[in-house]
Amino acid sequence: MSGALGGAILGGLRAAGGLEVVGASRSGDGTAVRHADFDRPETLKEAFEGARVLVFVSAGYAEDDVVLARHGAVVRAAADAGVEHVIYTSLAASGERLTIALAHRWTEARLAEAPFDVTVLRNGLYAEIPAGLALMGAAAAAESGVFAAPLGAGRVSVAARDDLAAVAVRVAAEAWQDVVSGGERRHAGRTYELEGLSAVGGHDLAEVLSEVLGRPVSYLPVPLGPRGRGWPGWRRTRRVTRCRPSPTSAPACWRPVKAICPRSWTRPVRPAT
Ligand SMILES: NC(=O)c1ccc[n+]([C@@H]2O[C@H](COP(=O)([O-])OP(=O)(O)OC[C@H]3O[C@@H](n4cnc5c(N)ncnc54)[C@H](OP(=O)(O)O)[C@@H]3O)[C@@H](O)[C@H]2O)c1
Repeated sequence: MSGALGGAILGGLRAAGGLEVVGASRSGDGTAVRHADFDRPETLKEAFEGARVLVFVSAGYAEDDVVLARHGAVVRAAADAGVEHVIYTSLAASGERLTIALAHRWTEARLAEAPFDVTVLRNGLYAEIPAGLALMGAAAAAESGVFAAPLGAGRVSVAARDDLAAVAVRVAAEAWQDVVSGGERRHAGRTYELEGLSAVGGHDLAEVLSEVLGRPVSYLPVPLGPRGRGWPGWRRTRRVTRCRPSPTSAPACWRPVKAICPRSWTRPVRPAT
């Protein structure tokens, strides 16, 4: 819960009131925040002790086999600790062709086999990612009037991280209320696709830069090329798949949005195994 998404969820749950909330993170020292290192499964027993509802934020910055081992350890530890409901932050269906999809779908399958209730929050690509690209290119664009980025000709579906966190807070708070009251578990067995409503691509970012910089900025698609040099293999591959968005990506919006596909709220799905 030390990361951007986890921190926002933890803050939201603490602010919600009426809940007993405990954070856990790899960097937690066991006082204000419990220590939970997914790479050291022995730390998870204590980290999950007494938890009835667990918000499980993926820790996906590694090779797939490492992520599978981490996530498998979390699922087993949650089951051993007697957690009653796990809420997992996964990847949106429109990200199916990204390399990171494998670990998310594998984790969803392990969760579906587990002895607790599950809610899968399939998060769209963070709006902060293309926004960050625009920021990185802003100085050059101010000088040259060109925004060069490896985004090809497509557009991608994105959602603001804070909005994704707000959904996780609502689902976790309601799941906790249901568990404590013994009432119907309204989010159990559900998968929510969380995406924006319109798409963003290089031209859209150039348009925003034009507005902000007060000068015309045009978009120039460039290959990923040297940007990936020196990165570990998994990171290069992921960036390449992310930076080649499909022109047929699911609808989305690049501005911060309250974005939940309405149909998915009512779609009672147990994650497929
Ligand atoms: N939807 C998207 O566009 C998108 C984009 C990027 C990533 N993601 C996924 O969403 C997750 C959250 O995103 P974010 O922006 O909050 O990332 P972030 O700010 O980089 O935070 C990553 C978190 O993962 C934790 N972590 C890493 N390795 C861990 C381990 N072995 N055991 C326990 N915790 C570990 C870190 O804990 P410490 O700080 O305590 O080490 C940190 O809290 C990412 O980890 C990734 O799986 C989604």
